[in-house]
Amino acid sequence: MSTNKEKFSFYKEHPKTCKPDDFWGQVKRTVNGQPVSQEHIDMIVDAVVTGLQLNQDDILLDLCCGNGALSAPLFSHCKGGLGVDFSEYLIAVANRNFISPPDQNYILQDVVEFCDNPVTPQKFTKMVCYGSFSFIEHHRSESMLKLLHGKFPNLDRAFIGNCPDKSRIADFYGDRPFVPGTENDPDTPIGIWRTPEEFIRLAKLCGWHATIHKMPSQYYAAYYRYDVILSR
Ligand SMILES: C[S@@+](CC[C@H](N)C(=O)[O-])C[C@H]1O[C@@H](n2cnc3c(N)ncnc32)[C@H](O)[C@@H]1O
Repeated sequence: MSTNKEKFSFYKEHPKTCKPDDFWGQVKRTVNGQPVSQEHIDMIVDAVVTGLQLNQDDILLDLCCGNGALSAPLFSHCKGGLGVDFSEYLIAVANRNFISPPDQNYILQDVVEFCDNPVTPQKFTKMVCYGSFSFIEHHRSESMLKLLHGKFPNLDRAFIGNCPDKSRIADFYGDRPFVPGTENDPDTPIGIWRTPEEFIRLAKLCGWHATIHKMPSQYYAAYYRYDVILSR
């Protein structure tokens, strides 16, 4: 499977320009350049914990985990967790700050490659992919959902969070210039935009039942993003 590693390099280079402890800046969880408040982080954690019905029997797979700053509070609701990301810098931050062996670990790998050749796939019961799915090319994101369905027999719920809503693209851009085609390009700051209906169709094609979740209106990105909860 091709990964186009050279092209998709933003999250490999950008974090190096941030302070080592600017965890939210490193993954661009910012508003006007400032890290979002703890209140917003708590809203994300609540949405994922509730959407996945996380409990102490779960082993959570966090695909595109970034620096682990969001994985750690999610893993704390579970028996264990594994974060996977292809940014060497962000995985190093995770391993310096958030690793808690033997139950909470982080590995450096492309997520589609991981799903194609997973180590002990049967142990994972839940999956989260937050703020990242839109950066995976169309054909590879479809492969990833099919592989998760076929190769992870005990994975019964998945949360794909913070997806950009194509039906809200005009609200997001407002008067700013928009280059047609941007909505289909994973190598842009927001990645591929999909309507909720497009996402539900994609999930169905890959064997999943999808339901759409909206964050509370006070969440900073609620007006143009949604979450998807997959079940079998
Ligand atoms: C906006 S950050 C989100 C990180 C984390 N999920 C969070 O919400 O804090 C996007 C992440 O996706 C990762 N990523 C994008 N494409 C990837 C791929 N094909 N394989 C592994 N990681 C990928 C980037 O390295 C980056 O860490």
